[in-house]
Amino acid sequence: MSHPTSEAPKAAPVPYFTLNNGVKMPAVLMGCWQGDFEGEGKNLDLAISNGYRGLDTATQYKNEAIVGQVIAESGLSRDQLFVTTKLANSEHHDVAGALSRSLEKLGGQIDLYLMHWPQGVDQSTGALFSDQSSGNELPDYVRTWKEMEKAYKASNGKVRAIGVSNFSIKTFTELLKHAEVVPAVNQIEGHPYLPEAELVQWSNERKIHTSLYSPLGQSNSPLLKDDLLNSIAASHNATVAQVIFAWAIANGLSVNPRSTNPERQVQNITLITLTDEEVKRIDTLHKEDGKHTRLCNVAWSKENSTAGGWTLQQLGWDIGFETA
Ligand SMILES: NC(=O)c1ccc[n+]([C@@H]2O[C@H](COP(=O)([O-])OP(=O)(O)OC[C@H]3O[C@@H](n4cnc5c(N)ncnc54)[C@H](OP(=O)(O)O)[C@@H]3O)[C@@H](O)[C@H]2O)c1
Repeated sequence: MSHPTSEAPKAAPVPYFTLNNGVKMPAVLMGCWQGDFEGEGKNLDLAISNGYRGLDTATQYKNEAIVGQVIAESGLSRDQLFVTTKLANSEHHDVAGALSRSLEKLGGQIDLYLMHWPQGVDQSTGALFSDQSSGNELPDYVRTWKEMEKAYKASNGKVRAIGVSNFSIKTFTELLKHAEVVPAVNQIEGHPYLPEAELVQWSNERKIHTSLYSPLGQSNSPLLKDDLLNSIAASHNATVAQVIFAWAIANGLSVNPRSTNPERQVQNITLITLTDEEVKRIDTLHKEDGKHTRLCNVAWSKENSTAGGWTLQQLGWDIGFETA
């Protein structure tokens, strides 16, 4: 469905965060991963109609072309939308090529280009770049970042900001030793059971904005049944999702929730305000027995505690996918 300019949909009144290069990023973006692939365009079109101005996609989601089409038919000018996409693990060896393919699919502008994971994968062998046993000398994430810096500078403003995803203090520390451009954003899993306060504070001190993925803990999330979150939600006549987003935004974090449901799309972008006491109480919720956990079921192996082929130690992730 396209929107003629005269009927351009209204933006929801969400705040914007200013990134370290002055670019403004909406506090709530629609996640574009794991939807009904056939229905993706319809879902994103609905999201724009419902007031979303931020879309979070990735080359690995295989839907950049659909996102580009929705943008082109939205009836909005490009500067009214903020689009994040991400360099795929299999494209670390060809950052310039990968970026130009993403730009083409997304209509010639990317507001935020992230390194999706610190792990590059050799397309021909499937080996991780950093895997010493593979014997290859292909780039690791520092070299990939240097390529991203070059591509960003060469893009003449088509890429408005660059950043990373799934970085920890450990991987960041190595990266920043070599970076000329400080990443504008780190997109990480985050919610009240995984607040990542130390990483967030460390990033804030270096002017790196933190953006949360899987902020609701995906489907069948224990967060939705949590007593504290439910009681705070009831006192605001709101939902647990609205409480989580208000908590995140009060802590200076943007959120990338995904919903294909029209009512929940509206709910997720209708923001409420919590008291300082409520925010502080939620900050410590993960300290209750058994609550500190990852909930996003990304490429990981439960048996040997790895994500994307790296151990949690290599990633610098303080806890695994189960309770710490
Ligand atoms: N950088 C990375 O490595 C990475 C990794 C994972 C995800 N992401 C990004 O983060 C986005 C969101 O993450 P996610 O999809 O994993 O998890 P999520 O947004 O935490 O959870 C999505 C689930 O929550 C449900 N939901 C949405 N709004 C709700 C509400 N108000 N109340 C109750 N349930 C609600 C959705 O169902 P309905 O659709 O039925 O509402 C869906 O089942 C992704 O789409 C992607 O853009 C990035």
